[in-house]
Amino acid sequence: MTRAQALSAKRERELWDSRAQSWDTTSAAGLSQVVAAVVEACEAAHSPVTLDIGCGSGQVTLPLAPSCAHVLAVDISRPLLERLEAKARELGIENVKTVATPVEALELPHESLDLVVTNYALHHLRDADKELVLARCMGWLRPGGRLVIGDMMFGRGSSVEDRTIITAKARAMLARGPAGWWRLVKNIVLFSLRIREKPMTAARWEAAVREAGYTDVQVRRIVAEACVLTATKPLTTT
Ligand SMILES: C[S@@+](CC[C@H](N)C(=O)[O-])C[C@H]1O[C@@H](n2cnc3c(N)ncnc32)[C@H](O)[C@@H]1O
Repeated sequence: MTRAQALSAKRERELWDSRAQSWDTTSAAGLSQVVAAVVEACEAAHSPVTLDIGCGSGQVTLPLAPSCAHVLAVDISRPLLERLEAKARELGIENVKTVATPVEALELPHESLDLVVTNYALHHLRDADKELVLARCMGWLRPGGRLVIGDMMFGRGSSVEDRTIITAKARAMLARGPAGWWRLVKNIVLFSLRIREKPMTAARWEAAVREAGYTDVQVRRIVAEACVLTATKPLTTT
């Protein structure tokens, strides 16, 4: 990994380790519509061997596992993976393998996967690393394999759509009182400097996925801030 990747990974690991005990009951609950749309998009795919990138405590991994032969659940945070493992045990799910690593450092055999899914994780990566991951996934997927990305998809305010989304997020934080005001100030700084959340617009995602060589690219907006993108690795590459 480069120094910039290692620095970003360290920041993310510290943040997510600290959220591991609360993620299921706090932020993840608000993402249920996006999780449902991601799982639905995956179920349409034939997915014996699946990779879930930034799986957290298993919001997508666990509902998908019964219809897969194997799921490789990758996350930067070991405590979140431990939550996932405990939930899998309770549900009697035995076909999930967890790997604690930044996805930027993940290595897998060529054409070993049928489906790559990721929900609300890639906006934590720098844009160059999002593109790197798209290229690596293209190598890991078998021809005809599917890519499903659920994530916040908006820009930094240059379009009316962006401004509507950002204003709605700011209003929701303001409504929470002083804790929300403080969070808003912090988020404005982090978002402007692209230190923590680094979403790309849906149009940019679509272009990046096509540039990486995927076909059949479709993007569906699920809630104001988030879309699900689906794409296919072509059967023959030119
Ligand atoms: C917003 S949570 C989403 C978790 C889960 N996919 C869900 O739908 O609830 C983002 C997840 O991405 C993981 N993450 C962030 N940066 C990562 C990286 N570079 N490599 C692997 N996982 C990462 C975090 O640890 C966290 O679990």
